[in-house]
Amino acid sequence: MLEELETIRKDALAAIATVTDEPTLEEQRIAFLGKKGRLTMIAANMRSIPADQKKAVGQALNEVRQAITEAMEKTASDLTAKRDAAAFASIDPTLPSRALPQGALHPLSLILDDAVRVLRRMGFALADGPEIETEWHCFDALNTPADHPARNESDTFYFDSGKLLRTHTSSVQIRTMEAQVPPVRVIAPGSAFRRDEIDATHLSAFHQLEGLYVDRGVTLADLKGTLEHFFREMFGSSTEVRFRPHFFPFTEPSFEVDLKLHAVGRAAKWVEIAGCGIVDPAVFAEISRKRGDQAYDPTQVTGFAFGMGLDRLAMIRYGIPDLRLLIENDLRFLSQFSA
Ligand code: DAH
Repeated sequence: MLEELETIRKDALAAIATVTDEPTLEEQRIAFLGKKGRLTMIAANMRSIPADQKKAVGQALNEVRQAITEAMEKTASDLTAKRDAAAFASIDPTLPSRALPQGALHPLSLILDDAVRVLRRMGFALADGPEIETEWHCFDALNTPADHPARNESDTFYFDSGKLLRTHTSSVQIRTMEAQVPPVRVIAPGSAFRRDEIDATHLSAFHQLEGLYVDRGVTLADLKGTLEHFFREMFGSSTEVRFRPHFFPFTEPSFEVDLKLHAVGRAAKWVEIAGCGIVDPAVFAEISRKRGDQAYDPTQVTGFAFGMGLDRLAMIRYGIPDLRLLIENDLRFLSQFSA
């Protein structure tokens, strides 16, 4: 019996030594260790082995099984290593890797980041307000009477509750003055909404950047200096800025601000970019009534305000011909703004 075991060991190791692929290795495993394998058959016959030899045969059986198993495991791992090496041989690890697609900031985010950076350097803090506003914050408190065209159903998105999608970020002026006492120096970028026909220069949802500065002795010179400096920081030190008298209910005097654009190959032209003015004392009076204090006493404080279209700033900065490009999410357009 012991001799037979030794023969099995030799046969098995010799067979395994010639194996060059996994299926053949599996065949050998079945032939020696499988259910009807040669070694298994001997183990099944243990009962017929005389008692005094059982221990020795059992021990030898285990040894042979272990030797065969080890030889098979070693061959299996050699085969795997050989296969891996062959696979790697066809790869050139010195090739550069494939570039991952890189995202880019939206042009509006870029222009907003720049604008905020410039204004913060001038001491303006960020302020915020809701997009769903009350009529009082959007209109009444801004000295805009009930019969003003901006309040018309055909110009404004109203909710059944009487609230509305703010038509400008100027409502944040009111929110800020309700919450803080002067000196106040804030900017409020955000979305605004109007029932406009959508075309190359109008969207029903667009973006503005509001500014408000209230203190003792704020003058028109402060307003002009601030905006001129801002636009020159944004568009270059030779940028020409023009203030044109205009009317807004919440500022007096009021102006529209134009920038002179020099597009290559075309005559330079003035483009309207912002509204601004000296805060109307009627606004301070209404805030004082609401607050119930004299923090905004119109005989003590003055201020300036401005509001500009961020989408339009982006159009100018990047030469974007059609506002709709900003909302179409076309990667061919957006990927041009990656750094
Ligand atoms: N809210 C105005 C608009 O949407 C823009 C504006 C004009 C804002 C004058 C101001 C301002 O703060 O003082 O057309």
